[in-house]
Amino acid sequence: MKAKKLTDNIYWVGGIDWDLDNFHGYLTPRGSTYNAYLIIDEKVTLIDTVKHYLYDEMIARISDVIDPQKIDYIVSNHVEMDHSGGLPKLMKASKAQLFTSPKGKEGLEAHYDTDQWNIETIKAGEPLNIGERNLEFILTPMVHWPDNMLTYLPQEKILFSNDAFGQHIASSERFDDMLPLDIILEEAKRYYANIVMGYSSQVKRVLDNVAKMDLAIEMIAPSHGIIWRSNIGAILKNYTSWSKNETKNRALIVYDTMWGSTKKIAYALQGMFESLDIEVSVKNLDTHHISDVITEVLEAKYICVGSPTLNNNMLPTVASFLTYLKGLSPENKKGIAFGSYGWSGQSVGQVADVLDDTGYEVIDRVKMKYIPGKESLSNKINKLKEEI
Ligand code: FEO
Repeated sequence: MKAKKLTDNIYWVGGIDWDLDNFHGYLTPRGSTYNAYLIIDEKVTLIDTVKHYLYDEMIARISDVIDPQKIDYIVSNHVEMDHSGGLPKLMKASKAQLFTSPKGKEGLEAHYDTDQWNIETIKAGEPLNIGERNLEFILTPMVHWPDNMLTYLPQEKILFSNDAFGQHIASSERFDDMLPLDIILEEAKRYYANIVMGYSSQVKRVLDNVAKMDLAIEMIAPSHGIIWRSNIGAILKNYTSWSKNETKNRALIVYDTMWGSTKKIAYALQGMFESLDIEVSVKNLDTHHISDVITEVLEAKYICVGSPTLNNNMLPTVASFLTYLKGLSPENKKGIAFGSYGWSGQSVGQVADVLDDTGYEVIDRVKMKYIPGKESLSNKINKLKEEI
């Protein structure tokens, strides 16, 4: 296993998780990487580690450059175990001093037996000198854990951004000019929607602060996937837009169905949006995973959610989607609840309540008994159309 050079004396020494297909519920069909970075200076410094089962791969890549026992400093930008999982073995194998945020120290102490670890907390605005270089730290609480921070290297103008700007892509290519940009941006979008979207206000604050600091950035080195060096403007533009919850004139219709009646309503809604020249996509939860559907939530202005009533409730697939949506979605969207029913008919009200709790403006509810008749459905849709 070889280290990959970012620039003189700075190397990627992470692990490639080719087999990863599910990251705590988020489908990752392209796998992922856990990116660790090695800086050779008077104080040999490692930024972040890898998931525990890729420890040997990380050590092999470090050993391609230097004896891992010569690591003096380790910077832990984030406690989550996909980046800290290599620490227990590494802290035992080296005499390294560990630098992290105050919340990072708290988190690491809660995750690992740190009695023998030499941990020092950093302060934002107080650089750490490692020889010819300084490391600067920017605290980014709740993007997306309390402990998160970024590490900036002014000499080479590299921002080690940890989860921010990452994507779940396993590849031997390390840079954004080595793979098709549309694939990298699509994976960055899926990553943002599934991991970061619920913290958009914090992302916006970080971006505003970084803009005020006027950092020169020639490389963004995240902790997952591809390193940005040729398309930094593109990923920053997207993050700025996503963090402001900017939407497109677009509708997303998400539903599940028992005997096809709720599906009929879904397709009638599709026709309505098409007639209004609003781009629309329709996702049946029986065939689309919630982590794929949530990516489409990110830029949609209208979110329509449909379920028939089963045993006085919405379908479990729809309840699962709504739970995921409520945890992640920004508030500035318009919602429509819909569904068919046979007798009790609670599902549409239940869906509308969750959309309302999520902070959406619920425009209307489309509730139809048994199989929606052509005329009654079209009357309902025409009435709804006037409200859009
Ligand atoms: Fe990639 Fe929040 O861990």
